[in-house]
Amino acid sequence: MDDGLQKLEMFYEGKAKKLYSTPDPDLVIAHFKDDATAFNAKKRGTIEDKGVINNRMSELFFGILEKAGVKTHFVRRLNDRDMLCKRLEIVPVETVVRNIVAGSMAKRLGREEGEELKWPIVEYYYKSDPLDDPLIYAEHALLFGWATEAELRTIHELALKVNEVLRRFLDERGVILVDFKLEFGRHKGEILLGDEICPDTCRFWDKATRTKLDKDRFRRDLGDVEGAYQEMLRRVEG
Ligand code: TMP
Ligand code: ASP
Repeated sequence: MDDGLQKLEMFYEGKAKKLYSTPDPDLVIAHFKDDATAFNAKKRGTIEDKGVINNRMSELFFGILEKAGVKTHFVRRLNDRDMLCKRLEIVPVETVVRNIVAGSMAKRLGREEGEELKWPIVEYYYKSDPLDDPLIYAEHALLFGWATEAELRTIHELALKVNEVLRRFLDERGVILVDFKLEFGRHKGEILLGDEICPDTCRFWDKATRTKLDKDRFRRDLGDVEGAYQEMLRRVEG
């Protein structure tokens, strides 16, 4: 591996990624797997080369966001499946931004999937597998000490900024950014955007046909999952 950076100990294995420590305590290596899960891992499978695509797509999105002034954990892509990242202390709150009604919002509120929202909404979910990531208010995060008021303000602002930047970028490539999930963490006292940005964590619809180009193809057994991931990478690579 370049720069003498090697994987030392695997200190975390999630559903889609493994995290390794490196000789530099401020840096970690994220390894992207092909494993796919849905409904809190009640459904399991693999999506061929998903890890390679998500690593590359995240690299491109993080690059665009950094240029737009959003600070991220991304340092550089090391190879097909490995990304060098700044080590984060993850805020246990998942931030979801929605432009169009879909998924759990459609179900929870009895709205038609595809309904355009008058403005983007930012939602928070408590990151807890045993509880199935419940929807929370920002105030819960404050009350239980998951994030400070200043951190929540930053997260809200950054989430809307990410939406603005990626929505415009994708629109130019014939893709509607329906909704997406972000994770943030602390690094040297600063809030950075973490995790990955890819078809696992976003809903992408083709602008002309509204064809789903994301993990909903796996969640809902719509077929041609690999084709959708490859098509999205082609669009993002331009
Ligand atoms: P939802 O409609 O199921 O709440 O999902 C909203 C967005 O968050 C969607 O783009 C998919 C993404 N997401 C994740 O990244 N991880 C998850 O575990 C879930 C449930 C959703
Ligand atoms: N990551 C989710 C899980 O817990 C699935 C999803 O993305 O819907 O399995």
